[in-house]
Amino acid sequence: MPDQPTKKVTIETLRRMKRSGDSVVFLTAYDYPTATFAERAGVDMLLVGDSAAMTMLGLPSTLGITLEEMLTLSRAVCRAARRALVVGDMPFLSYQPSDEIAVRSAGAFLVAGCDAVKCEGGTRVASRVRAMTDAGIAVMGHVGLTPQSVAQIGGYRVQGKTRAAAERVLEDARAIEEAGAFAVLLEALPPEAGALVREGLTIPVYGIGAGPHVDGQLVISHDILGNFVGTVTPRFASRYASLDVEIERAFRSYATDVRTGAFPRPEHCYQTKDWE
Ligand code: KIV
Repeated sequence: MPDQPTKKVTIETLRRMKRSGDSVVFLTAYDYPTATFAERAGVDMLLVGDSAAMTMLGLPSTLGITLEEMLTLSRAVCRAARRALVVGDMPFLSYQPSDEIAVRSAGAFLVAGCDAVKCEGGTRVASRVRAMTDAGIAVMGHVGLTPQSVAQIGGYRVQGKTRAAAERVLEDARAIEEAGAFAVLLEALPPEAGALVREGLTIPVYGIGAGPHVDGQLVISHDILGNFVGTVTPRFASRYASLDVEIERAFRSYATDVRTGAFPRPEHCYQTKDWE
């Protein structure tokens, strides 16, 4: 039976969801199977995050992943994403050097199949956001904790803890809105700061660790599935599975079966024909 037609989530859908108060379900995906399962689960938006540097490549931060690597992952995700809106995350140095580099890099994500791109920073990247939106590219901003500038901000620290600090985050978010972004992502803010930024903007505001008073929630799929290999355990991520345990158990059982001769069994073997 052919698949049911799926109505693609668009920026207009996201605006409608904001107006009607429907929370957007937003998840990272870096590969075809994960994006397929997310689609089946009805996830609204997928981020091909540069967190792939850590989740998929075992790097210590997001800084080491290249544009080419991000595009390969994006192509895999976009092959599976029929309904979800896919956002390609612009890696370090793919937009910082100039407006022109930003437009070219963002364009490469669209050619790879993404519906939009995301870049980190507020006021200081507003001209990049303007250049990309002027080129017809849908851009999501990302303010608060911005991992690509982790050395500059002194580590993976919660942002906007005081009213004054939250006002600065709002100022950054406003600069991005004025530059034409269709949405802003807030990372690692207290709920009060998340609410302040949301109230101060007209575009949808999504959060990862920014509390409940936003228009949708993003999580890193490895955090909720329990298959991240590393030491970072963000407070805001809730675990829905322990794939690490499951995968390791399966590999141990396989190893035992190979070593004891229990695998392969006859049903795993091909039959001969006219064997002399
Ligand atoms: O790369 C990513 O997954 C992100 C989130 C941490 C916001 O940018």
